[in-house]
Parts: sequence; structure tokens; C-alpha cells
Amino acid sequence: MKKINLIILALLSFCYLSAEMPEPYRSINVLPFDGQGFFTNQEPLKNLIHQKSMKSAIEIGSWLGYSTRFIASEMGEDGVVYAIDHWLGSPDELQHRNDPRQPFVYQQFLSNVIHAGLTERIKPIRMNSLEAADALNLKVDLIYLDTSHDTDSVYKNIMAWHSHLKEGGILCGDDWLWPTVQVAVWHAAGQLGRPVHAYQNLWWFE
Ligand SMILES: C[S@@+](CC[C@H](N)C(=O)[O-])C[C@H]1O[C@@H](n2cnc3c(N)ncnc32)[C@H](O)[C@@H]1O
Repeated sequence: MKKINLIILALLSFCYLSAEMPEPYRSINVLPFDGQGFFTNQEPLKNLIHQKSMKSAIEIGSWLGYSTRFIASEMGEDGVVYAIDHWLGSPDELQHRNDPRQPFVYQQFLSNVIHAGLTERIKPIRMNSLEAADALNLKVDLIYLDTSHDTDSVYKNIMAWHSHLKEGGILCGDDWLWPTVQVAVWHAAGQLGRPVHAYQNLWWFE
């Protein structure tokens, strides 16, 4: 086939795929992939997902979607991940506030999901975390918490989100190595009567 025909075919395929994409992906200008992230929990998270054959997740704190795409990929074709973020950056993380991508970080998140081919499996919900916990009528197998690290925020998020777990589901989060996170997790898990587990930077309980 001539080169020009191949280019036309590629353009037509792209238009067809764009038209088929769900909103909000369909309506945005796609940026080049930029997948930089803060995610180091691949191994323990993958084990949890596969041990329990998990198919649904809520992620609180997605940024450019590194962990979001990982969870969605591991859950397989019939998995779904709700990505909750206001995409304004964490108040306690200077690198967010100073990041030059801040004005278009949500557009970058959506673009990254499109490039990864995961638009059917990742549902972005642009809300404040605690407001979303009140507003959403969802129960899932896995909740992954990765927003602010201060004790008050982590504790409030755990208490707000744990009722969105299905029976036998796992609530987990990043940054176990932060003492402020440990204090919040021990306190919340103690109140809920759950034993805490941790491996490297990941903590979790049922
Ligand atoms: C550390 S980043 C998430 C990193 C991402 N999980 C990854 O692995 O690349 C924290 C995210 O939490 C979001 N965030 C912080 N506080 C929030 C809140 N109260 N409600 C919603 N999103 C929040 C920020 O906008 C930021 O995108």
C-alpha cells in the first residue's frame, strides 16, 4: 500500500477511535504522553489485585495517572477504576504547586489514559475527595488512597471512604514510610477494628 494511503488509514482510524471514546476523553485536545508519577507500589498492589481477583477500584489522588493506569491494567479488560482528584495538586507537596503543568494537568491525565488505551476502564471524577465520598453511590473491591500526607487528611479520608468497600474489599494507600500517615492509619484501623498490613511504602487493611 502507498505511504499516502497508510497515512489516510491511520487518520481515519484515529477519528473513528476518538468518536467512539467516552466523555470526557472524546472532547479534549490530546497532548503527547507524559507519564511521570509518584508510584512505587507495583509489586504489593499487583499481588493484592490478583490474589482477590479484583475488578473495581476507587483511586483517591491520581495526578498524571501513573498508579491509575497500573491498577486498571492489572484488573484486566472487565475492570473499572474511578479516579477521584480535583487536579489542583496536594497542598502539602511543593512539587505540585511549582509544577509548570499545573494549569493543564487534568488534560494531561486524560491524554495519558487515551495513549494507554484505557478510556473504557478509567472513569475520572473531578471532585474534592471528602465531597466525593459523600456524593458517590459506589462500592468497590479496592480503594487506593494517595492524596495529602498529613495525619488529619489521611484519617478523614479513611473514615470517609471505608464504607465504599465491598464485603472482603481492601482499603490501601501510599506513603506508609511517612510517620504522619502511620499515625492516621493506626488510629483509623483501630477504630474500625481492622489489623493493619504494610509492605515497603504500601499499607492496607480489609
Ligand atoms: C501524590 S499525587 C497522586 C499520585 C498518583 N497516585 C501517582 O501514583 O502518580 C496526589 C494527588 O492528590 C490530589 N489531591 C490532594 N488533595 C485532594 C483532595 N482533597 N481532593 C481531591 N484530590 C486531592 C492532588 O491533586 C494530586 O493529584
